[in-house]
Amino acid sequence: MDINTLSGLKAAFDAGPSPELAKIITFALIESGNTDNIALYISVLGNTLTDDELERLVEAAEDPNISLSLETLAQKIDVETFNILIQLLIDKNNLDTAKSVYLSARKQNIRIQNPVFESILGLEIQATKLKVVEKPDIAQITDLSRYRQKNTDFSDVIGLEKIKKQIHKKIILPFQSPSLFQRFKKKIGGGVLLYGPPGCGKTLLARATAGECNASFFNVEVSDVLDMYIGESEQKLHAIFEKARNETPSVIFFDELEALAGKREHARSTSSANTVSQFLTELDGFSQNNEGVLVLASTNVPWAIDSAFLRPGRFDRMFFVPPPDRVARKGILKHHIQGRPASDDINFDTIADKTPGYSGADLSNLIEMAADEAIDESIDTGNDVSISIKHFKEALGESRATTTEWLTTARNYARYANDGGRYNDVLDFINKHSKN
Ligand SMILES: Nc1ncnc2c1ncn2[C@@H]1O[C@H](COP(=O)(O)OP(=O)(O)O)[C@@H](O)[C@H]1O
Ligand SMILES: [Mg+2]
Repeated sequence: MDINTLSGLKAAFDAGPSPELAKIITFALIESGNTDNIALYISVLGNTLTDDELERLVEAAEDPNISLSLETLAQKIDVETFNILIQLLIDKNNLDTAKSVYLSARKQNIRIQNPVFESILGLEIQATKLKVVEKPDIAQITDLSRYRQKNTDFSDVIGLEKIKKQIHKKIILPFQSPSLFQRFKKKIGGGVLLYGPPGCGKTLLARATAGECNASFFNVEVSDVLDMYIGESEQKLHAIFEKARNETPSVIFFDELEALAGKREHARSTSSANTVSQFLTELDGFSQNNEGVLVLASTNVPWAIDSAFLRPGRFDRMFFVPPPDRVARKGILKHHIQGRPASDDINFDTIADKTPGYSGADLSNLIEMAADEAIDESIDTGNDVSISIKHFKEALGESRATTTEWLTTARNYARYANDGGRYNDVLDFINKHSKN
């Protein structure tokens, strides 16, 4: 390229810098042997370089102007291109440049950590030091087994007969008689999403499921996973899934999945794209076998879950956990009052009638409030007072149903965004309950 053309291109670049122009100028400068200002152009090339072009740059990297420019470039390219760049430098036996380029990128993006490169380049010290920070806390992962709930089972979950039956058929039976399912080439495991208004027994049901099928149960606190260190969440997720795969049959339970798998616009704390893709990889179990691993999750906001999580093979079964009906409300009240002094005048049918829209948690709270009233009265009067209908009346005056708001929101999604009938169970529920 002649001098005039080159200075014309430089002027055009000054007026409007573009990677295309920068690329032409870069290679013209390399050809001319005058590379003093080449950094200016190389630094804007980003991910536009083809493998051949990368190779041409690497071949010229004996020139310190170019090797320095590569350090800047490495901070602006994706990991894939970065790996090619380092590999090329190693292949050309330009280890000094490979090392300085690697460290420069590493400084910019803490997630870059390639043990193979690090050992070739003699960066082990660096690697070990980093591992101390990034290694998931194995003790914490082992500790997850403390959540194994052998003492909670379906008898603790009042009502919800339909969903208990579904869980029994689709989750517990396959675990109990795997041969039956293997004979029909049915896979055991997979993903199930429990959704519904808060306080209606999703977490309880998940724990009871683990108790019923006698599987290892890993209750994953999403906040534990969304750790502060970049890169650590992915490792932790992987470690949890590995542990579950080694202890089949097993259930991994992700409570309040939306924190991990939420759509961006709903997210409170955003999990990084890397965490999300790691989660999806683990769910898919392509490289590892997820046979015998059931992934259970719960959410109060199913419409906030990124649809990537709901595709076939992932959380493709959704179970609606509805608010308790009248009979279930009565049952929950009786269940939660067990072991407390209660007078015979309490008519649980009447209380159940007065508490439509109450969640299980609301009802359990109602009993706590009634108990408080009875304690107050015991203190005031100096007598041992039992919980009576009077205390319930006071408690009812101060409490309210919390599921109605959820149902209103859910109805809108069910009516206007009912992808593939996803929320049919919600619609059925609402239709049934608006009639009477
Ligand atoms: N069906 C139910 N049977 C018995 N108790 C229930 C039921 N639903 C909710 N509860 C009570 O409410 C509490 C909160 O329920 P939880 O499972 O945490 O709700 P969710 O996870 O759906 O928000 C439970 O610990 C339990 O005391
Ligand atoms: Mg819960």
